[in-house]
Amino acid sequence: MLSDEVRQMLIQTAQAARKWAYAPYSGYAVGAALLTTSGRVYDGVNVENAAYPTGTCAERVAVFKAISEGEREFEAIAVVTVNGGSPCGSCRQVLAEFGLETSVIVADEEGRIVLETDVAGLLPGAFRPTDLKV
Ligand code: THU
Repeated sequence: MLSDEVRQMLIQTAQAARKWAYAPYSGYAVGAALLTTSGRVYDGVNVENAAYPTGTCAERVAVFKAISEGEREFEAIAVVTVNGGSPCGSCRQVLAEFGLETSVIVADEEGRIVLETDVAGLLPGAFRPTDLKV
């Protein structure tokens, strides 16, 4: 269970990151803050591209930053948008790769929590690494 302090810290970190979003096409700035079990926080923003499908979501940027620094275990991720929009399917799948118990907090730009769940709640029946062991 996350403490209120950690929850607020993640929301604030995700909100602060939104200013770095590169979203000239959608105008929809997303910030994410990922807490690892080692206690580090990796933020991420959406990075769009003139070739639209090439762009990437904030959650995946945060996860990939953490992975590329050697992290593998995640405690929680906060995602902040103007209106508390929910993580997309691809981001749910990427999060599921690293654990179903990671807490997920979705908040709007005022810091209001609109959804609090875990990855299992976001993506029931996820395809997981164990599914490849046939
Ligand atoms: N976006 C995210 O960053 N995370 C999500 O989970 C949903 C969508 C971004 C992608 C795109 O840059 C913009 O929001 C509009 O879809």
